[in-house]
Amino acid sequence: MSLSRSRLLQEMGLGPVWRLRDAPGGEPVAEDAADEAAAVPVAAAEPAAARHGTENRPALPVDAGAVAGMDWPALRSAVAGCTACGLCRERKQAVLGVGDEQADWLFIGEGPGAEEDARGEPFVGQAGKLLDAMLAAIDLTRGDNVYIANAVKCRPPGNRTPEADEMAACRPYLQRQIALLRPKLIVLLGRAAMHAVLNEEGALGASRGKLFEYRDGERVVPVIVTYHPAYLLRNLPDKAKAWEDLCFARRTMRQQQRAGQDLPLPGD
Ligand code: URA
Ligand code: SF4
Repeated sequence: MSLSRSRLLQEMGLGPVWRLRDAPGGEPVAEDAADEAAAVPVAAAEPAAARHGTENRPALPVDAGAVAGMDWPALRSAVAGCTACGLCRERKQAVLGVGDEQADWLFIGEGPGAEEDARGEPFVGQAGKLLDAMLAAIDLTRGDNVYIANAVKCRPPGNRTPEADEMAACRPYLQRQIALLRPKLIVLLGRAAMHAVLNEEGALGASRGKLFEYRDGERVVPVIVTYHPAYLLRNLPDKAKAWEDLCFARRTMRQQQRAGQDLPLPGD
């Protein structure tokens, strides 16, 4: 690769332009212990009953068996009306995902923030702009061979990290999305996505650069983890690491695409 590192990083939008100008109202995400501690009071301030309560709506668990048989329209409408966890109570709308339903690439974030909740599309706020720049750095465009989803479909109040039980409640929808998409590679953005998809609860930094597997029935989908863009907005030095992860992802995708071409065609 002949481009200089600084040029590549610039292409990722890694210059000062991506710095947050003020405290994000904002973007979810904690990648390290300090951030996590900062995020706790938001969740802790709410009584557990308010977070998980069923005062206004019945909390009907997701019927995983039914979801596993859904097509895209059925999935979309099931998610739109879902009341399976407390996050349904404060959402404006559920945010299923966006992009190419035949995509090779699947990026998974944490959960909708304020702008996503208002617009019904994942990653449209500040973090989304950085994600778009990250995609552009490896010649990808939102919606073109790329699908973007989140671990939970409804906005956690105050943009706190979704809790394990909320991610578990929402998992059948994500599993169905993956089954319908049949992506060649999944890129997990941040710890919450790593927890939701791989059931890995460790530090994100320790999982970078490794190839994980997601099992969808008989199919095995390779999985790579990297930092969440909202975290990168606040931790500029780690952007270089995210760039390494993206290069790793691109190499892995090329291998996957080559392997796909080598498979015998039906009827051969
Ligand atoms: N952060 C996320 O994890 N997902 C979004 O859709 C937006 C911000
Ligand atoms: Fe349902 Fe998922 Fe929304 Fe919870 S976050 S209410 S499980 S769609």
